Amino acid sequence: MKLLITGGAGFIGSHVVRLFVNKYPGYEIINLDKLTYAGNLENLKDVEDASNYRFVKGDISDLDFINKLFEKEKFNGVIHLAAESHVDRSITNPLDFVETNVIGTVNLLNAYKAYCDLSTGRFYHISTDEVYGELGDEGKFTESTPYHPNSPYSASKASSDHFVRAYGTTYNLPYVISNCSNNYGSHQFPEKLIPLFIHNIKTRKPLPVYGKGENIRDWLWVNDHARAIDVIYHNGRNGETYNIGGNNEWKNIDLIHLLCSQMDQKLNRPEGTSEQLITYVKDRAGHDFRYAIDSSKLMAELGWEPSVTFEEGLSKTIDWYLENKEWLDHVTSGEYQNYYNEQYVLR
Ligand code: NAD
Ligand code: DAU
Repeated sequence: MKLLITGGAGFIGSHVVRLFVNKYPGYEIINLDKLTYAGNLENLKDVEDASNYRFVKGDISDLDFINKLFEKEKFNGVIHLAAESHVDRSITNPLDFVETNVIGTVNLLNAYKAYCDLSTGRFYHISTDEVYGELGDEGKFTESTPYHPNSPYSASKASSDHFVRAYGTTYNLPYVISNCSNNYGSHQFPEKLIPLFIHNIKTRKPLPVYGKGENIRDWLWVNDHARAIDVIYHNGRNGETYNIGGNNEWKNIDLIHLLCSQMDQKLNRPEGTSEQLITYVKDRAGHDFRYAIDSSKLMAELGWEPSVTFEEGLSKTIDWYLENKEWLDHVTSGEYQNYYNEQYVLR
């Protein structure tokens, strides 16, 4: 099995690459990544010398490059994670999201159709629950919830989901899609809520809570998402969608209180120290109120379930960031500083 994983140097992608390289020594795994600000080969140090693994630097929106790569490699299957992934960046730079998430995905679909043996693998698109829009106080997203994306990011992911389904129907491509809730864990770029707040608490910087902190997200440990991707790639049914979630809803401000309390303990600071850093800031434009995922299809069909409680997962996550100071120092220098100033200092 020659498997292309796109976006393998990013947060979720690096966990997927690691799982596949270690679990499937007989596969040939190629990680294709542009190494944007969010892609980091330091995430894969422990597998970079494995004999079943190779890294290729490249841009999925570069049509010529993608066609040449697919013609040469003749992949059996594709697990497609490469994307621009941050909602706030999509509000300031929507076109980047169209280029990578929409055009990049269509380039991959065309190349897969033209050069791959469709009988031996499948095209697996990793997507998000944000395509469904927002929920009120009740209910959960199921696989049949109508699409209603509200941010440029989610509109681009909804569009790429539609292209994958359309190629399946029109050209008979074997495909599967999964839509997952918010991930947290090691190696996440500190622009997203949890790693940003860990970094800011550590360095005693303000914790910028959007609006009143009442928005709700359903959190899943990234290793559990990677396990779900493994079972769906191998055992999911072609042409199907699977929702993946943690059954773990938290109002942002409650999550932040838990994080502050765990951080105070781990940093040996008096209880209540980190809470003082909480600063309410202008809300995100178009901020979706609540996400909650019904994963019963995945659990019933493929026997997957989350492996850790949120308290355990969060504690392991904080430990990882505190123990990997060098990783955090590297990713918070340079471009990160410009982004941080733009988003928060001038907010
Ligand atoms: P990330 O931003 O951490 O990583 C994205 C990776 O894609 C990076 O390594 C980056 O270099 C690469 N990339 C970006 N543009 C590229 C291009 N044009 N060509 C090649 N590579 C490119 O993102 P993530 O959080 O790991 O998300 C991975 C996937 O999972 C995305 O498709 C995202 O939409 C989806 N997803 C994320 C979450 C989440 O909570 N983070 C939840 C559900 C779904
Ligand atoms: O639901 C899945 C999605 O989860 C993924 O598809 C996205 O790629 C991923 O980025 C994530 O999107 P969110 O916008 O939900 O994640 P983020 O960490 O940016 O924000 C989580 C919540 O915290 C959200 O309600 C906004 C709020 N927030 C975020 C940041 C960065 C703050 O209050 N302050 C902040 O500084």
